[in-house]
Amino acid sequence: MSDVKLIGVIGAGQMGRGIAQVAAMSGFEVVLFDVNKDGLDFGFNFIQKQLDKGVSKDKWEQTFVDATMSSISTSTSMDALKECDLVVEAATENKKIKFEIFKQLDNIVKEGAILASNTSSISITEIAEVTNRPEAVVGMHFMNPVPVMKLVETITGLETSTATIERTEAVAEKMGKTVVRADDVPGFAVNRILVPMINEAFYALYEGVSDARGIDNAMKLGCNQPMGPLELADFIGLDTCLAIMNVLYEGLGDTKYRPCPLLKKYVAAGRYGVKVKKGVYEY
Ligand code: CAA
Repeated sequence: MSDVKLIGVIGAGQMGRGIAQVAAMSGFEVVLFDVNKDGLDFGFNFIQKQLDKGVSKDKWEQTFVDATMSSISTSTSMDALKECDLVVEAATENKKIKFEIFKQLDNIVKEGAILASNTSSISITEIAEVTNRPEAVVGMHFMNPVPVMKLVETITGLETSTATIERTEAVAEKMGKTVVRADDVPGFAVNRILVPMINEAFYALYEGVSDARGIDNAMKLGCNQPMGPLELADFIGLDTCLAIMNVLYEGLGDTKYRPCPLLKKYVAAGRYGVKVKKGVYEY
């Protein structure tokens, strides 16, 4: 049973709006925060559209959509998060930005609340250290697309308390997710394995093993992956993939994690993937 009722979500981008949608659909009250008003409105309208699609596919009733949407409020002021029982940060994957957000959250959000990060690779122990409540800081890593993917990876920082991790996992389960608990090591469980595979696909492309379609088809049809690794890289964001490889390379100090020069070149050229309509493929 979860004692958490009000959830704050930081960031109305791809991950944040998905987390807000699933939380609201699971009966939580949600405050969706973003500093960018246009991004916030886009995120809120995106959730509405996703839920409307469900009505046209007979997945749920209009009354459910109306109740879900009315449980989501939006704000461009972080003060709106002060009464939250749990805040999930899903801002840009950048240490400086995350540290600044957690410092502010620590001052704003009520005592006893959990501060979670959806980071895909930044150390929870380091994020916790910038707050005065490291025992209440935890990793809550959702997968993209959040409404579809069944996993939530929870990550315990060095100081994360048992109560914090257990309350967080109860929330994830109430959202209908299956939890895998991971230690606070670079890449945690999913990205420690997934992103080096994607990086290897870039090396295969770089070395001319096959072309992009060939590499993706090999893994789709030969290994039953829903998307080929290069298509998946475009979907995750090539900049995010590179950031994760850098965390693995620096954090584990092993040359087997060095980012592929071709991945670096795509990112340098601004080919970040689906979000800019141009990555390995064009959209
Ligand atoms: N948001 C919400 N729902 C979505 C969606 C989105 N962005 N994209 C697809 N869906 C839903 C569709 O509505 C559809 O639902 P119904 O069956 O109930 O109608 C269902 O997903 C299937 O969609 P489609 O038929 O359009 O497409 P598909 O069968 O090709 O599946 C996919 C699309 C689910 C994205 C599939 O290709 C897939 O599973 N890809 C792999 C995704 C993956 O590996 N994600 C993890 C990335 S790693 C990560 O997130 C962690 C990190 O830190 C980097």
